[in-house]
Amino acid sequence: MKILVNAGPTREKIDPVRFISNHSSGKMGYAIAEAAILMGYEVTLVSGPVSISAPENLHKFISIESAAEMAEAMKKEFFNADLTILCAAVADYRPARPEKQKMKKKEGNLFLELERTEDIALSLGSRKKAGQLLAGFAAETNDLEANALTKMRKKNFDFIAANAVGIPGRGFGAEENAITLYKADGTKKELTLKSKKELAKELLEELLKR
Ligand code: C5P
Repeated sequence: MKILVNAGPTREKIDPVRFISNHSSGKMGYAIAEAAILMGYEVTLVSGPVSISAPENLHKFISIESAAEMAEAMKKEFFNADLTILCAAVADYRPARPEKQKMKKKEGNLFLELERTEDIALSLGSRKKAGQLLAGFAAETNDLEANALTKMRKKNFDFIAANAVGIPGRGFGAEENAITLYKADGTKKELTLKSKKELAKELLEELLKR
């Protein structure tokens, strides 16, 4: 069984010294990669810039910065994976025309034009072959269930792990998390609040249940 995981944020260049990013710590994705290795699977981890170290005994570690680099790496690795888990917080927009030189400050406001990045989950979902499993995450501040189910269908996921964001002590950056796992067969499973490491193991057991 080959497992592909992505994790962490992406960085979208404004100029050579500035970027747009987000607060993803990579902890959930790294915990999933580590749990999968301990369960004996061959794991490839594609990661944006994070401050935690990669788990030992990875089959492959690919370090990327931008959403475009993440998309390229994921599309290359996807065909080889039996199970792919998308934990990365990929930027939805990037500066349309990043400056080649450091921008100088001027009087008045600055307007930055942003363009859409590739939705990697959508691209992988459309490439999915029989026998391949694809799981995504949905971090939502509102209408958790409806938004998660819509995303699962649109992106052709087999599972979506929904977590409420904006609750202190869980999710983004935190040590603990709680997940509602929705399956494409219409069932759901509550994975209650616990450390991301324990949660990762439970999640994998659910994803790999026959
Ligand atoms: O639509 P939304 O971004 O909320 O969906 C979240 C899921 O889609 C996550 O699994 C995330 O990794 C993935 N995603 C992606 N490429 C993007 C945006 C999100 O793969 N550009």
